[in-house]
Amino acid sequence: MSDKHHGGHPHRSQRGPRKPRDGGGGGRGGGRRGGGPSSGGGKGFKSAGRAEPVPADLPETKFAEFDLAPNLEAGIAAAGYIEPSPIQAGMIPLVLEEKNVVGRAQTGTGKTAAFLIPLLGLLEPVEDAAEDPDASPTGPVRILIVAPTRELAIQIAKESDKLTRFVPVRTVCCYGGTSIDDQVKALRDCMVVAGTPGRLLDLIRRGHLDLGSLDAIVLDEVDRMYDLGFRDDVDRILAAGKSRQQTILTSATLNDDVENLIAKHMGEHERVIMEAKSLTVDAIDQTFYFVDPRRKQDLLIEVLKSLKPAKGIVFVRTRFSVDRITYQLQQRGMGAELIHSGLPQRKRERILELFREGKFPLLIATDVAARGLDIDDITHVVNFDIPNHAEDYVHRVGRTARMGKEGAAVTFVTIDDGPYLTQVEKLINKEIRQEMYPGFELEKPEPAAKKEAKKQKRPPGLPPWANVARRR
Ligand SMILES: Nc1ncnc2c1ncn2[C@@H]1O[C@H](COP(=O)(O)OP(=O)(O)OP(=O)(O)O)[C@@H](O)[C@H]1O
Ligand SMILES: [Mg+2]
Repeated sequence: MSDKHHGGHPHRSQRGPRKPRDGGGGGRGGGRRGGGPSSGGGKGFKSAGRAEPVPADLPETKFAEFDLAPNLEAGIAAAGYIEPSPIQAGMIPLVLEEKNVVGRAQTGTGKTAAFLIPLLGLLEPVEDAAEDPDASPTGPVRILIVAPTRELAIQIAKESDKLTRFVPVRTVCCYGGTSIDDQVKALRDCMVVAGTPGRLLDLIRRGHLDLGSLDAIVLDEVDRMYDLGFRDDVDRILAAGKSRQQTILTSATLNDDVENLIAKHMGEHERVIMEAKSLTVDAIDQTFYFVDPRRKQDLLIEVLKSLKPAKGIVFVRTRFSVDRITYQLQQRGMGAELIHSGLPQRKRERILELFREGKFPLLIATDVAARGLDIDDITHVVNFDIPNHAEDYVHRVGRTARMGKEGAAVTFVTIDDGPYLTQVEKLINKEIRQEMYPGFELEKPEPAAKKEAKKQKRPPGLPPWANVARRR
């Protein structure tokens, strides 16, 4: 381990005694292997790992204030990040101090780099990269990032790869639907792993992913990670990585599940909560249409024809409806493709890649695309079905208007959906504006006199549409 120190910030190896490390210690003395080529497109993701030479003409950045290793700072500058976003300014110093951190900030505000930059900054090979430009990437795994979907795990791995361009650190992405053997091989010389819970557990159980030398576990989209579907897996992963020194949780929404997780697994921690008037980004123009459920599909076509999204995502509740709606839009030549968990993994990645490249304008998706995905210049989000959980609304509409950009979100609300709309407005602390589309104005469900009579019977606390809703 090196005791070199470039500036004011001491890295992990200089923080007094650390637990002994298996298999390679701090990474400098362990068995080194050559860096392999990157692979991608449905075959998993593994970064090359070897450090590129730092170009001379990189811009100065305000990340200098964190005293990061020069080659990491170069990676930040090469990524085009000049100024830390508020959540980055809040989280980076605390993570560098090896604190446990819970971070909440609106969608698209840079939470990924808020945990990646400081965690990478604490790795010795990052620190030493400027002096040893030919070093090969080594293990053991030191940083584990867990995300709820495969595509998000891949995106996080790519962000790590971008930031580690000038340091000999390899990132590997481990997720289901792809060859486990490729991932096992790649894991040998890597320090950063991003993945989804199922595949990570599989690798841990089979003895291929050793978390004995782990520095930190990050749970991105933590409220989703600790809901019923993933809770047991996450508990097991956290138990397997119990020798870690840091736990980091991030999301745009936190809830009681997260509080339970904190109580169970975290101990002392710092919270970095970026308070704002609303949970959603101001730059999203949010509207809704009341619509007869039988006319939703027609309204979708009309709305899309009039909005002409350059790049839009339409969120739909079920895979079956995603298939049906995509087919209908394709029949009309509207440039729609679909993504949901029923597609082969290769196809999921391919579709997303083409959408990122702007090869078609409309992606029809289930909530598999709701969380964390950072796709350039999404202009519109349409909630064909309003989500059942208000948090999902925040994440879905957050696919647009990222990092200071603008966007619009349109939600279809049927008469049965009234309570969901109320929940969303309550959660985001904002009233969503109603729009009418000519020819689709919702007719009054019954004559006023009859309605008045029913109103008398409405139990207190229910919204005006409650009686009507039950009648349907
Ligand atoms: N300091 C920065 N300056 C400029 N751009 C940045 C900076 N940090 C991150 N970005 C870019 O901002 C975008 C959004 O970042 P990111 O995906 O991390 O947001 P997020 O807060 O995790 O959003 P979500 O809640 O939707 O997951 C990305 O394209 C990222 O490359
Ligand atoms: Mg994110």
